[in-house]
Amino acid sequence: MRRSLFALALLPVLGAAAIPFALAQRPYTPGPENITLPQGWETRFLRFATLDNPQRKIIRNFYVNPEAFAAARPGQPLPGGTLIILADQKARLAPDGTPLLDQQGRFIPEPGWVQIGAQERQPGWGVGYGPEKRNGEWEYARFNGDGSRNNGPVEACFTCHLQTRAQQDFAFNFWDYVQARK
Ligand code: HEC
Repeated sequence: MRRSLFALALLPVLGAAAIPFALAQRPYTPGPENITLPQGWETRFLRFATLDNPQRKIIRNFYVNPEAFAAARPGQPLPGGTLIILADQKARLAPDGTPLLDQQGRFIPEPGWVQIGAQERQPGWGVGYGPEKRNGEWEYARFNGDGSRNNGPVEACFTCHLQTRAQQDFAFNFWDYVQARK
């Protein structure tokens, strides 16, 4: 997005020949800052799962960009451009500290996010990571509940997803959702 706006801004000045040059000026470097939370993701993205987590007393909300779901095919790697967002909410607690339940037996969320994790794949990403870390073309990033970047480490994101879900394109619930729904 930012990259294409940059190229567009140069277009009238330098002409179309400037586009490859502009892209070459911003080579991919591995790291979490490649991922940004797009404006309006909470309303535009597809919330494909919501899970109560009793150990952590949180509700986990799984979102994906709708274009990725449209392009995804069972048994295939997830499409380039897939952005999966995992946004956690605190469960409302009774005075004794246990989560309160609604009429369906589900946790009741407190408003706002407590933390947000994201994984995104784009063509060409992942180059530069060693085999003990690389998750195909995926990057991982952490954000605070207000959507600002959280600079905490992302090493464990790579190692855990690599060890447990390499056969499912390093994804969990979204992979399963695609297998079940398409
Ligand atoms: C110890 C293992 C482990 C670590 C570390 C880990 N994850 Fe995960 N991740 C999981 C599991 C298991 C799930 C499935 C959801 C669940 O069980 O809560 C998941 C799900 C996800 C999803 C949703 C994937 C989908 O297909 O729907 C995203 C996004 C994600 N993790 C990002 C991250 C990020 C970012 C980090 C690092 C800050 C991270 N994860 C660290 C195990 C891990």
